[in-house]
Amino acid sequence: MRILAIETSCDDTALALVEASGTTTAPKFKILKSVISSQIDVHRPWGGVVPNLAKREHIKNLPKIFGTLKIKKSEKIDALCVTVGPGLEPALWAGISFAKEIHAVIKKENKNIKLIGVNHLEGHLYSFLLAQKTEYLVSNLSEPTFVRADFQFSKQKLFPAIALIASGGHTILLKMDSLVKWKRLGETRDDAVGESFDKVAKMLGFPYPGGPEIQRIAENGDKKAIQFPSPMIGTKDYNFSYSGLKTSVLYYLRDHPKVRKEDIAASFQEAALRVLVKKTERAVNEFGAKSIFLSGGVAANKELRRKFSLISEELNIRFIAPPQSFNTDNAVMIAVAGYMNILRKKNRKLVADGTMTI
Ligand code: KG4
Ligand code: ZN
Repeated sequence: MRILAIETSCDDTALALVEASGTTTAPKFKILKSVISSQIDVHRPWGGVVPNLAKREHIKNLPKIFGTLKIKKSEKIDALCVTVGPGLEPALWAGISFAKEIHAVIKKENKNIKLIGVNHLEGHLYSFLLAQKTEYLVSNLSEPTFVRADFQFSKQKLFPAIALIASGGHTILLKMDSLVKWKRLGETRDDAVGESFDKVAKMLGFPYPGGPEIQRIAENGDKKAIQFPSPMIGTKDYNFSYSGLKTSVLYYLRDHPKVRKEDIAASFQEAALRVLVKKTERAVNEFGAKSIFLSGGVAANKELRRKFSLISEELNIRFIAPPQSFNTDNAVMIAVAGYMNILRKKNRKLVADGTMTI
C-alpha cells in the first residue's frame, strides 16, 4: 500500500511517500520520498514557536513541498494520512485542510483512496520501527530518501517493552505488550523534558530550539559541577515534573552570574536525563521488559542514548531508537502510524485536537 503522509503539528512542514506492507506483527516500510521544511528561522526571533506564524508558513510551504515530491499521475496512492493532534491547533488545521484538498483531487481518479487522521504521539512511538534499515542514503532529509524498514524485530521477542516518548511537548512512559497494545504508565505533570531544555537554553542566551545547543555546550562542561534536583526521581509512580528543575537553574543563574555556562548545561542535562533513565529502568524491572524504545526530539540527545545503551547492556535487554533524522518531527512516522491504524481499522476525526493523548 502506498501512503502519502502530512505532518504540520508544530514548526516542521513534512510530507512523505511510503510503501507499507505486512501485518501488525510484522509490518514493512520503504520510504520513497521524505521532505521536511523547518521553520526554525521564522520562529527564532520570538524565542519559541508562534502558532499563527506556524500556520501561515505551513499554508505557504505545503503546496511547494507537494510539488517537489513530483508524484506522477500513474503513481497510485492508496491512503492519505494526516496528523490531527496533539499539537498547535492552527498548525494542525493547515495540514488537515491541505489533506482534504489533495484527497478530493486524487479521489476523482481513485475512488477508494482513504483519508486517515493520525495521532502524532503514535507516530513518535512507532518511529523505532525505522531503526532497522537495509538501505539508508540520507543525512539530510530535504533530499528524497530510500529506506527499508522491515520489522524483523518481531522474531526476536521484544515484548513486553517500555517505550519513552520524550519531546518538546510530551514526556510519556508506556508499557507495550505488542505493536498494537499498550498502557500509559505515566507522564509529565507540568513541562515536557524538551521544553525544559528549550527554556534553560533561553536563560543561557542560546537560540531556539535549545536541546541541541545544551547538548553541544554540555560536552565541554562538568556534569557534577552543580547538584540540580531531579524532581520526582524517588516517587513510586511513573510521572515526571520538569518545572522545578527549570526554576532551580533560574535561581542558580541569578545567584551565580559568573558560573561557566558549560557547567550549567552539563549539570542541568544530567539532572533532566537522570529521571528519564531511572524511571524507565524501574519500569523495565517491574514489568520484566525485554526492550526499551526511545523516541521524540529528545531521543536525539547523545548523552541520553549513551545512558540507555549502558543500562540496556547491564540489564541484557534491547535498546532501540530511530536514526537521528526520525527523532524530531517528520511525516514518515505519520505514514507508519497511519498504516498501523489502517490495519487495525481505526480512524480519527479530521478535526484538530491540540491536547490528544496516547
Ligand atoms: O519531537 P519534536 O521534534 O517535536 C515535538 O513533538 O515536540 O521535539 C522537539 C524537542 C525540542 O524541545 C528540542 O529542544 C528537543 O526536542 N531536542 C533535543 C535535542 N534535539 C532536539 N533535546 C535534547 N537534546 C537534543 N539533542
Ligand atoms: Zn513531535
